[in-house]
Amino acid sequence: MAQRVRKAVLPVAGLGTRFLPATKAMPKEMLTVVDRPLIQYAIEECLAAGIEEFVFVTGRNKSALEDHFDAAYELEDTLVKRGKKRELKQTQEATIRPGNAIFTRQQQPLGLGHAVWCARELVGDEPFAVLLPDMLMAGEPGCLAQMVAAYHEVGGNMLAVEECDPARTDQYGIVGVGETVGKAFRITSMIEKPKPADAPSNLFINGRYILQPEIFALLGEHRRGVGNEIQLTDAMIALAAKQPFYGFRYHGRTYDCGSKAGLVQANVALALGRSDIAPAVADEMRNLLTRYGSREDEVPRPA
Ligand code: G1P
Repeated sequence: MAQRVRKAVLPVAGLGTRFLPATKAMPKEMLTVVDRPLIQYAIEECLAAGIEEFVFVTGRNKSALEDHFDAAYELEDTLVKRGKKRELKQTQEATIRPGNAIFTRQQQPLGLGHAVWCARELVGDEPFAVLLPDMLMAGEPGCLAQMVAAYHEVGGNMLAVEECDPARTDQYGIVGVGETVGKAFRITSMIEKPKPADAPSNLFINGRYILQPEIFALLGEHRRGVGNEIQLTDAMIALAAKQPFYGFRYHGRTYDCGSKAGLVQANVALALGRSDIAPAVADEMRNLLTRYGSREDEVPRPA
């Protein structure tokens, strides 16, 4: 039987240059979607999947992440005194159990594979999840919970995948599709950011992984790949020669909050799912769309 996935690695060392100046003094993972920071969505997704320990691979200027998941004594005390029970609950829900959040630093920006490798001693010899918090997965049950259920049937390594525009394969890791096994399929090939002509499919790795610990030795070889970075995909290709890799088709909406458009879309979509603010947001959207739609010449059209 597949060994349980108890730990998650969250690579959060990136500078967030696409969001400057918002990210000048604040980690990009603290950018907000409605009322919580991006990173909290990833942690909630993990908790719903049974994850108990969180390894954050951070960098300089990321202390807000550590503070966010800590108890906030003065704030909580004030909320108690003011009788603000709902706010107290919301604050306490953003707390990770004592000892279950571990922070280590990626000292050089050498790529995603290097960031994951930095977690090797903290993960040890057991399967683990990797979540890229930029990718916000809206959907119930969460993407990782769906994957964990599929993983328990087949074991090995598992990557969540989704379809992308075939012209945009060069923005993602892309997988080749083999036979169906349980709720997943056998991955026949992987390639990081291929040109459309070289892509084995349009199924992209969407930022959720379940990996076996043997990946660490391969990442430790520190081979450079696309963009002269140590790529997680390249180590997975090497591991696939020894262990099975399965693709899990995630059905749910994913927002790439590493891009401005994705972050705004996520805010709108999640706001529309919240009964307290949805009517006001929807009203303004209708207003804006009416005005936007009336200036046909300014509306960007898809090619
Ligand atoms: C990384 C991975 C890529 C994956 C993508 C998902 O790329 O290397 O395989 O498809 O995340 O967001 P990055 O976005 O860091 O360039």
